[in-house]
Amino acid sequence: MVTETSQERFRTYNGVFDAFTNRTLFYLESHGHITELSRTLFVGKESNVFTTSHREGDRLVKIYRVQNCDFKQMYRLIIQDPRFKTVRHRPRDVIFTWCQREYTNLLKAKSVGVRVPETFACRNHILVEQLIGDPAPRLKDAIIENPKQCAQDIIENYKKLYCDGGLVHGDLSSFNILYHNQKVWFIDFSQGISVKSDYADEYLRRDLSNIKQFFSKRGLDLNIETMYNSVTKV
Ligand SMILES: Nc1ncnc2c1ncn2[C@@H]1O[C@H](COP(=O)(O)OP(=O)(O)O)[C@@H](O)[C@H]1O
Ligand SMILES: [Mg+2]
Repeated sequence: MVTETSQERFRTYNGVFDAFTNRTLFYLESHGHITELSRTLFVGKESNVFTTSHREGDRLVKIYRVQNCDFKQMYRLIIQDPRFKTVRHRPRDVIFTWCQREYTNLLKAKSVGVRVPETFACRNHILVEQLIGDPAPRLKDAIIENPKQCAQDIIENYKKLYCDGGLVHGDLSSFNILYHNQKVWFIDFSQGISVKSDYADEYLRRDLSNIKQFFSKRGLDLNIETMYNSVTKV
């Protein structure tokens, strides 16, 4: 059960469902990607996440709130990625490209066997993907029976992402990893950046440092250099 504060309700109903969003949702519905939005799963700084039922299994709909997005910050980050450096400095172009990058990254990660949700559609500022669990807890809230095995699972997935997918997640932490049936699922790929970016190494190290910190509170002492070598060396 998701309880919304009045501030969240305000953001949900006043910041999201403008005419353009409704048209985009209608497009996604008429193309069979979604049905009615069932419930709010999460209200973030820049997006609202809803669930929708589908005959092939429940899905998640992530809607960026175009009015709320810090497009200048998004622009600064996205042009660090050689794949997207020609994006125009206009709010809509930046936000749509941001959403598109998340979609492309998820498809790439999936294609090389990283455990990520299946992704079904991306239109303008809306992304549709598979709902993991009912939904699954984030790693930060999960009960982890075997931290060592869990950390290993993260490293193995990251290695595939880096070596086979050519990507650095860029925002990996216990907030952006789900834990389901004792397995990790990487989510929230909007900051996923090409390994060819000048910033890739810095972001990879930041991701690994988040993971180290998380497990150190659970009695596991991980070494950043060992993790770095495991992820980057084929
Ligand atoms: N595929 C998914 N399956 C289940 N829950 C998800 C999924 N994707 C996101 N969530 C939930 O929604 C929250 C917000 O999604 P996320 O993509 O991380 O958005 P934000 O960019 O706002 O952090 C996550 O922390 C997680 O709890
Ligand atoms: Mg997130």
